[in-house]
Amino acid sequence: MKGTVLITGASAGLGAEFARQLDGKATHFILVARRVDKLKALAETLTTPVTVIEQDLSLPGSPERLCQAITAHRHSVDVLINNAGIAGPNLLEVSDFSTQRMFEQLMMQTVAELCSRLIPGMRERGYGRVINIASVAGRFPSSDSGNYGPAKAYVIAMSEELNVATRGSGVHVTALCPGFTHTEFHEVAGLMTEKNSSPNWIWYDAATVVREGLAGCEKGRPIIISGRLYRWLDPLLRSTLFRGLILRIAGRA
Ligand SMILES: NC(=O)c1ccc[n+]([C@@H]2O[C@H](COP(=O)([O-])OP(=O)(O)OC[C@H]3O[C@@H](n4cnc5c(N)ncnc54)[C@H](OP(=O)(O)O)[C@@H]3O)[C@@H](O)[C@H]2O)c1
Repeated sequence: MKGTVLITGASAGLGAEFARQLDGKATHFILVARRVDKLKALAETLTTPVTVIEQDLSLPGSPERLCQAITAHRHSVDVLINNAGIAGPNLLEVSDFSTQRMFEQLMMQTVAELCSRLIPGMRERGYGRVINIASVAGRFPSSDSGNYGPAKAYVIAMSEELNVATRGSGVHVTALCPGFTHTEFHEVAGLMTEKNSSPNWIWYDAATVVREGLAGCEKGRPIIISGRLYRWLDPLLRSTLFRGLILRIAGRA
């Protein structure tokens, strides 16, 4: 990967790890999140020049504002890593619908709009790499009534479609699907009790996920399931038999 790399949600977890693994390969980083202090601290550890942009990507209009800021800094984006994300509210327990709308903006609209605004330029220049961070949760229905899995399913479907649409143009679009990964994600979501009571072997480190995502995107793969365990589980989770079983268990409950 080369050129100017835009990473959303670079202040922690997978986003910060993308910056660390692409350091020295990228010519410039544009690091985006709400916690600018964290972005600046990361920038100080990198050898590649960095532009830090504070942006809350759950707000309507934020992708446009971000792209205007990038243009004002006279950069064009060669590599887009759509990574910012949160767990989000339970769809059946929403009391404040503005929170729900912000979740959908962050997880779907912002991801799609940044693809829409930045991929045409990549295509014109004949080079581009796009990694949209999805999740194994987007590959099968779960019983938690959240909107997280469905939002990630959208990101997977959109990335797959864009992968086909950009073939032969020098642009690669990939949905990266991690399973459980050690980052700040579960702490932010208030899920540390669940995390601490789960077995170690279902958890991967951010470095593995990012390494597999970068390699898969370079090869032009539309979907990367990260981690041997999840690659093995994926066909099972997507099988009609498994889905039927889930629906039957959920029906009984
Ligand atoms: N960890 C897992 O188990 C796991 C599994 C599958 C998929 N994923 C996906 O991986 C991606 C990265 O998550 P992570 O695990 O690295 O979590 P993380 O450590 O909590 O990092 C999340 C990043 O997203 C940024 N972010 C959150 N809300 C934002 C907003 N409104 N505007 C701008 N930036 C925002 C955060 O920055 P600020 O708070 O500074 O804004 C932070 O940099 C997410 O899309 C997540 O859904 C994670």
